[in-house]
Amino acid sequence: MPALSERSSGFTDSVIRRMTRIANKYGAINLSQGFPDFDPPHEITDRLREVALEGPHQYPITWGAKNFRDALAKKQAHFMGREIDPETEIVVTCGSTEAMMTAMMSVVDPGDKVIVFSPFYENYGADAILTGATPIYVPLTPPSFDFDRDILEAAFKQHPKALILCNPSNPSGKVFTYDELKFISELAIKYDTFVITDEVYEHIVYEPYKHIYISSLPGMYERTISCSSLSKTYSITGWRIGYIIAAPYIIERAKKVHDFLTVGAAAPLMEAAVVGLEFPDTYYKELTDHYTHMKDLFLGGLRDIGLKYTEPQGAYYVLVDISEFGRGDDLAFCEWMAEHIGVAAVPGSSFFREDINDYIRFHFAKKDETLNAAIERLRKLK
Ligand SMILES: Cc1ncc(COP(=O)(O)O)c(C=O)c1O
Repeated sequence: MPALSERSSGFTDSVIRRMTRIANKYGAINLSQGFPDFDPPHEITDRLREVALEGPHQYPITWGAKNFRDALAKKQAHFMGREIDPETEIVVTCGSTEAMMTAMMSVVDPGDKVIVFSPFYENYGADAILTGATPIYVPLTPPSFDFDRDILEAAFKQHPKALILCNPSNPSGKVFTYDELKFISELAIKYDTFVITDEVYEHIVYEPYKHIYISSLPGMYERTISCSSLSKTYSITGWRIGYIIAAPYIIERAKKVHDFLTVGAAAPLMEAAVVGLEFPDTYYKELTDHYTHMKDLFLGGLRDIGLKYTEPQGAYYVLVDISEFGRGDDLAFCEWMAEHIGVAAVPGSSFFREDINDYIRFHFAKKDETLNAAIERLRKLK
């Protein structure tokens, strides 16, 4: 038989999905894969019921249904602080996952370099492989997850085509400060580099931290490709609706890439999600309050048990330091924990480019009873 593609040969099974399978095998509480176990807002699911009968059920406009783009442009203009033209500055995609891939394919050629902060969300490695880009990793060093400005500038000196910015960041929970974003943007302008953002946690940020869109910094709108999605903001990770917002000359290209990749996001789901995009500001405040509650509950439990962790500033993950349990193999630790303690986490090494095995990642987008049950089980660690 002919050989399968060289470019896909390096792909390994996703560690996160592997941990989910292990969690299922042992009946462990699954705090590995990041999705909520509570319902989406009922307004959205009520509307979905109507849409099932009314339609639309056929292909939408490939770059997104018009009423969806209009509502999204209005909502994002409010939060991003600038007018957004729904015709020329938006492409609706199948999740932020496709948004990132489309963004990469729109600006990166095989052989180009791309800066990726480490630890990073695993898809960025795959995006680089599929586009033929070579990642230049810049460490975000725990426990503060600050980056070294000289190391970042050295990476820019290699003339990368783009920098990938996950903000708020998975898995570290870092929310980049204005000063950090300003430094990154000055380098992006100086070295003529695109910034591709992944801002799926834009509305999950804990006091006193604030999410700042790097596209809003001086000179950045033209070179920023802002990717995000409805997955986390409306607790609908299975609906697969995301989007790219960027300057018209970038969107024109992204529309074509997206059309050939997927044709479009699901028409009935876009229609039903419009009600979510029209929610008032109170919705986003309540979302933050809810996540703050879940964070405080879970982190309070970890503290009570005496586990060490790094406090997240945004997103819904916490990295717990397991060095006190012996060093070396966080994957084996997670497998052992799923089987013997009954809670599944993700080995931190799957996010770090550096040789760091001291962390495991839990996510806490769960009902109180799930988090309380997990805490009770984790007590056995001590
Ligand atoms: C940083 C980050 N980006 C993207 C995604 C996936 O987003 P979507 O469901 O919109 O494809 C996730 C999911 O966990 C994530 O953590």
